[in-house]
Amino acid sequence: MTKKILVVYYSDSGNTKKVADYIANAKGATVVAVKTDVFGKGFWNYMKRAWCSLREKIVPIDPIAEDPSKFDLVVVGAPVWAGHVASPIRSFLAEYSGKISGIAFFVTAGGAGTDGALKDMRQISKMEPIAELAINDKDRKTQHDQSQMNYFATCLDS
Ligand SMILES: Cc1cc2nc3c(=O)[nH]c(=O)nc-3n(C[C@H](O)[C@H](O)[C@H](O)COP(=O)(O)O)c2cc1C
Repeated sequence: MTKKILVVYYSDSGNTKKVADYIANAKGATVVAVKTDVFGKGFWNYMKRAWCSLREKIVPIDPIAEDPSKFDLVVVGAPVWAGHVASPIRSFLAEYSGKISGIAFFVTAGGAGTDGALKDMRQISKMEPIAELAINDKDRKTQHDQSQMNYFATCLDS
């Protein structure tokens, strides 16, 4: 039986969205973005993102357009902010992980901090993911991200 997969992500500048869309396309999955009004543009909002992430803040997010309990697997994607998972995905996991039966994680970063963000995601959801993926700028520049995303997509079948 084919797994029903939901890809849930947050993205400001498109890196995480790109991975989410790729995975959703590869798996025939439904994809939905987490939205929040909390963060705007500019320097102070960059600082606000970093501060909220460092302080492990739960920020208000809009209700998710899909019900995660209706899917066999939820693939959750987040940017790394200040070495932690981006706050809107912290909020999503805190609010919805009780409705999720199977989970996988991916994170995108400029360079380092992906291990910390993935650890956050395991801790907040209290779930063991069936697969994890971390992509940074170097992976994108060298196009290594393609093979990483393809491998991750195959791991979602297990
Ligand atoms: C507030 C803030 C903090 C960040 N902190 C880190 C970090 O600690 N380590 C890192 O490698 N990249 C960091 N980044 C870069 C993002 O993780 C990276 O650009 C990510 O791919 C952005 O995803 P998006 O395009 O989906 O928004 C940070 C970006 C922002 C906005």
